[in-house]
Amino acid sequence: MGSINGLLLILSLQFFVSNVYCLHRSQFNPSFLFGVGTSSYQIEGAYLEDNKGLSNWDVFSHIEGNIKDGSNGDIADDYYHRYLEDIELMTNLGVNSYRFSISWSRILPKGRFGDVNQAGITFYNKVINAILARGIEPFVTINHFDIPQELLDRYGAWLSVEIRKDYGHFAEVCFKAFGDRVKYWTTFNEPNSVTKLGYMIGSYPPGRCSQPFGNCTYGNSSLEPYIVGHNIILSHAMAVDIYRKYYKAKQGGNIGITIAAKWFEPLRNTTADILAAKRAMAFDQHWFLDPIFFGDYPSEMHQILGPNLPTFTSEDKYLLEAKLDFIGINQYTATYAQDCIHSSCEIDISDGNALVYTTADRNGQLIGTTTGLPGFCAVPWGIEKVVMHMKERYNNTPMYITENGYSQVSNSSMTAADFVSDIERVNFIHDYLTYLNSAIRKGANVRGYFAWTLIDNFEWAYGLTLRFGLHHVDFKTQDRTPRLSAKWYSNFLKGSKIAK
Ligand code: NOJ
Repeated sequence: MGSINGLLLILSLQFFVSNVYCLHRSQFNPSFLFGVGTSSYQIEGAYLEDNKGLSNWDVFSHIEGNIKDGSNGDIADDYYHRYLEDIELMTNLGVNSYRFSISWSRILPKGRFGDVNQAGITFYNKVINAILARGIEPFVTINHFDIPQELLDRYGAWLSVEIRKDYGHFAEVCFKAFGDRVKYWTTFNEPNSVTKLGYMIGSYPPGRCSQPFGNCTYGNSSLEPYIVGHNIILSHAMAVDIYRKYYKAKQGGNIGITIAAKWFEPLRNTTADILAAKRAMAFDQHWFLDPIFFGDYPSEMHQILGPNLPTFTSEDKYLLEAKLDFIGINQYTATYAQDCIHSSCEIDISDGNALVYTTADRNGQLIGTTTGLPGFCAVPWGIEKVVMHMKERYNNTPMYITENGYSQVSNSSMTAADFVSDIERVNFIHDYLTYLNSAIRKGANVRGYFAWTLIDNFEWAYGLTLRFGLHHVDFKTQDRTPRLSAKWYSNFLKGSKIAK
């Protein structure tokens, strides 16, 4: 009896050590997608080459004061010319998939008011064929923030219902041109960031603010973000409808949407703060996912916005019905939510949902460890919370972690060597993957993970001041250098025994 107990003890200790402390590729399904992600405007450069039209980001980044360091994406990583070199980096990592986006203004410089630019189609064909030849599956985002400026100038882009026709047209051009080889499509990247950053606080194009948020000088309706959100949701539905009707059966692919999915933790264990955290989720992720799954906005949005919330017609609802094969989750951080309806709040930086967000609790204790991105703590347990929440709320629909990554502040006085010792990024990815694995063990239907990002790039309003890359990029020479994290990720993917 004693020896059996001893054996059991050894076995359970082994299980504990190998499954809790040592992260290993074999803990994930062999068909699990492990990849890296990028987006067109952040890396491509060649902003006027081969008939590409101007995008909203080309115009916005050229306006003084919009980008922290005055940089722009005119050249960025020059990936348009160096994509083969970058695909080599992916191959060395050992990833089995690559998430990238299509520049709308490279394919349709004038939206539906002009022709398809064949040079744009050729470029993405070359990328897709090159990765497939190396055993890397394309995971394509149809729209990752950059849109043709033409659509903004003509009719105000996302503020107008016109955009739905344009988006539907663009998506169909992509399905037709690339769908024979692309089996994973996401309609949008982070529509919840587009509404907040572009139309609430104005740090993304078109730089509009909604009272009482933000401090820019134009844009004045507090309802603009909700109109924009509505048009994005229905553009998504239109694209999915086109895909399902005319392409899915023939091409055999999947289509989803990617949401920025921060975890909101109640600041205090009080009913008021628990409700505040629910409101935060409603005004962030449920805003976009509930209409797709349930045909309407979450009840918290109805309660607060009342008749000001756009409504879905019965035709819209029909179009929306179950129009999703998977949910893409961009997961970086968690934050505290504190009620401001029943409690008095010192500051009010809410999104119209009567709460404040803080990264520290009442004792000043941070929710996680700091990263280079202000307000973004590393909170590894947050990924498990988000994934389990999505599992419960959306019937365990397949999920992909479409982004997860760590930012360092770029400091020009640092040498390249300083940039390549990124132990914090190694810890970050290791710890998030560990919690992700725990969610999978609890039954969450997660099917892939994409580290953000392959190479340092143009980080939107932060320009070149933040670096998220597994590879360091010297923007003067365009040299790429693998960081410790690239080596770690590659060891992990190749199944090394000790991952950290
Ligand atoms: C989410 C965005 O999709 C991506 O473009 C950005 O670089 C990362 N977050 C980091 O901020």
